[in-house]
Amino acid sequence: MSEASLSQEHHTFPPDPAFAAQANGTADLYAAADADYEAFWAQQARDRISWATDFEQTLDWSNAPFAKWFVGGTLNAAYNCVDRHVEAGNGDRVAIHFEGEPGDTRSITYAELQREVCKAANALESLGIGKGDTVAIYLPMIPEAAVAMLACARIGAPHSVVFGGFSADALNTRINDADSRLVITADGGYRRGAPSALKPAVDAAIAVGDNPVEKVLVVRRTGQEVAWDDSRDVWWHDVVDAASDQHEARPHDAEDPLFILYTSGTTGKPKGIFHTTGGYLTQVAYTNSVVHDVHPETDVYWCTADIGWVTGHSYIVYGPLANGATQLMYEGTPDTPHQGRWWELIEKYKVSILYTAPTAVRTFMKWGHDVPQKFDLSSLRLLGSVGEPINPEAWLWYRKWIGGDRCPIVDTWWQTETGAIMISPLPGVTTLEPGSAQKPVPGVSAQILDDEGQPFTEPEKVGYLVLTKPWPSMLRGIWGDPERYQQTYWSRFGPKYYFAGDGAKYDADGNIWLLGRVDDVMNVSGHRLSTAEIESALVSHPAVAEAAVVGASDETTGQAVAAFVILRSEAAADGGGPDIVQELRNHVAKEIGPIAKPRSIMVVTELPKTRSGKIMRRLLKDVAEGRAIGDVTTLADSSVMTLIKEGMASGAE
Ligand code: WT7
Repeated sequence: MSEASLSQEHHTFPPDPAFAAQANGTADLYAAADADYEAFWAQQARDRISWATDFEQTLDWSNAPFAKWFVGGTLNAAYNCVDRHVEAGNGDRVAIHFEGEPGDTRSITYAELQREVCKAANALESLGIGKGDTVAIYLPMIPEAAVAMLACARIGAPHSVVFGGFSADALNTRINDADSRLVITADGGYRRGAPSALKPAVDAAIAVGDNPVEKVLVVRRTGQEVAWDDSRDVWWHDVVDAASDQHEARPHDAEDPLFILYTSGTTGKPKGIFHTTGGYLTQVAYTNSVVHDVHPETDVYWCTADIGWVTGHSYIVYGPLANGATQLMYEGTPDTPHQGRWWELIEKYKVSILYTAPTAVRTFMKWGHDVPQKFDLSSLRLLGSVGEPINPEAWLWYRKWIGGDRCPIVDTWWQTETGAIMISPLPGVTTLEPGSAQKPVPGVSAQILDDEGQPFTEPEKVGYLVLTKPWPSMLRGIWGDPERYQQTYWSRFGPKYYFAGDGAKYDADGNIWLLGRVDDVMNVSGHRLSTAEIESALVSHPAVAEAAVVGASDETTGQAVAAFVILRSEAAADGGGPDIVQELRNHVAKEIGPIAKPRSIMVVTELPKTRSGKIMRRLLKDVAEGRAIGDVTTLADSSVMTLIKEGMASGAE
C-alpha cells in the first residue's frame, strides 16, 4: 500500500490473538469496574501496592471536590518502587539502563537502586530535610533524577521537579511558591552534542530577593566550571556517596503529598498541581500494567519523556518502578549525533515497549522512513502515544515504519492533573481506531457535555470532555490555593463534573476523539503553555505596550506560539523591525524557557478587541494560520483586522 493511500482508507485494527493471549488487560476489567468501581479500585490497590497498614475506606468523597482515597492506609512509595523487588529476589534485575547523550552508559539493578536511594535519603536528612519539607529538583535526564525523587518520597518530603529547560525566573517562581529549602541540581547536562549548564540558572533563581533556599545539592555530570558558594552548595558525590546505604522506609499516610508539579493554566501564574501517595501509586502501577502491558520479567520499556513533566513522573519513575520493570533512560535529543539515534537504542537494548509523543512521530516522518529502516526494530511489541492528539496519518506511519505493522498503538489521554492515563484503548482487548483515544480505562468515567452542560452521545457533535467520578490518582488540589482548584476544575459545569479543558466528540462507534484545548492553553510539542503567561512575559519587556498570543497550528509541533505586539511609542519610533522581534523572542526564552519562544512575532499598531475590551484571539488565530478572517462584527473597530492583514502582506514579521 502506498503511503498516500494509507491515510485515506478507514482502517481499524482488531487485537492480534497472540498479543491478546498474553495481555495484562482483559475485557473482564470493564465489567468488574462497572459493577462496583470502589471495590474495583480497592482490589487494584491491594493487588498492586504493598501497604504497611491496610486502608479502612476506599473513597471519602464527603468533602467533594476534595477527595481522600484509601483512607487509613499507610505505605512508602520508595519501598514499593525499589525495596520490595529486592526482597522478592529480583535485586539483580536491571531497573534502569541509562544512556547518556555522549554515549556513556550505566545499568542500575534494583539492588543498586535501593542502595542509591537509601544513601540519598540519608543525605537529605543530614541536610536537614524531613517529612513535609518540599524539595525542588532541577536536573537533566540522568539516573540521579529518579534517585532524588525516590529519596524524597522515602522520607516523605514532597518533590517539586522543575523541567531543566525552564528559565531561572520560572524556577524562582516555583521555588518560592512551594517554599523549597533545598534545590537538587547538576553542573549541567548534555544537549545536542555539547554540555549545557544548569547550575547558573539555580544561582540566578535564588540570587533575587527573599527565598527559602538554604542548600543546593549539585550532581557532577559534565565537569564544567561552576560558581560555588561554600556556605550553601554541596556536591552530591560528597554527601550522597559518603552516606550509609541503610535507610528505614517509614510508612506515610495514603493521603500524604507525594509531589507538586507546576503546569500552565489560563492565567499567568502556573498552578502547583499536587498528588498524594496511595491513590497515585495505585493508578500509575495499574495503567502501566494494563495499558503499556508491561511484563517486568521480559520487557524493556522506554518512555521518552523528560522527568520534568508528569509523563516522566508517572511512566518513568513511579509506574514502571512500582511494577519492577526494566527500562531505558536516555539523556539526549533524537538527532544527536544522528537521526537514527532512537532506533539504534531500541536495537541495542532490545526495547519492546515505546511510549512517546506525536510531535516526535511527525518529526520522524519528516526525516523519512529510510532512517528507522536501517535498524532492527523487531524487539518492539507495543507503541504508545501521549501529549496531544495523534493524527491518523502519523498513527499509521508509526504503526507501519516503527511497529512493523504488528504492534498495537495505545493513544493515551490524560493530564498533569489526572496523574495517570484516563482514556486509552487496552491493547489485546480494544479494536484500535487510529487517531482516537477511544474509551475511558476500566475504573474511569467520562462524558461529553454541550454548552448547557447536557451530556450527549450523538456522533460528530463537538462538546466538552468531563470526568464524572473521582479517580485514585486525581490531583488533590492546587498547592496553597484550594479556591482556584474548585474554580478551575469543578465549577464550569457544576460540582459533579471535572472539567478537563479539552474539546471532544464521539464517532459512530462510540469512540472518544480528543480535539485539543478549549481554553487559553496551548499545546506545543506536547507541552502545555499558557497564552497569558507568554503575554505577561512579553509585556514585561520595556519596549512592549501590549501583547496577544495564540496557538497556531503547526505541522510538526501540533501548535506553535504566534505573538502579536504593540510597541511603546519610543520603541516604535526607533523602527521596531527584525531586531526587536529577535530580542523579544529571546526575552520570552529568558522569562519562561526556550520552549515558550514564539515562532512568529508580528508588530501591530492595534489588537482586535470587543467593545468590552476582550482580545479576540480567534481572529488572530485566523491570521497566524493564514486563513480568511472570520466574523468581525463584534469588534469595537473593524478596521483593525484590515490593518493587521495589510501588515502581514507587506511582510512584517
Ligand atoms: C493536555 C494535558 C498527559 C501527559 C502529557 C501532557 C493534551 C494529552 C493527549 C492525547 C489528545 C492529549 C490535552 C490535555 N493531551 N494527551 N492522547 N490526545 N490530547 O500533560 O501538560 O498536563 O497536558 O494535553 O489537551 O488536556 P499536560
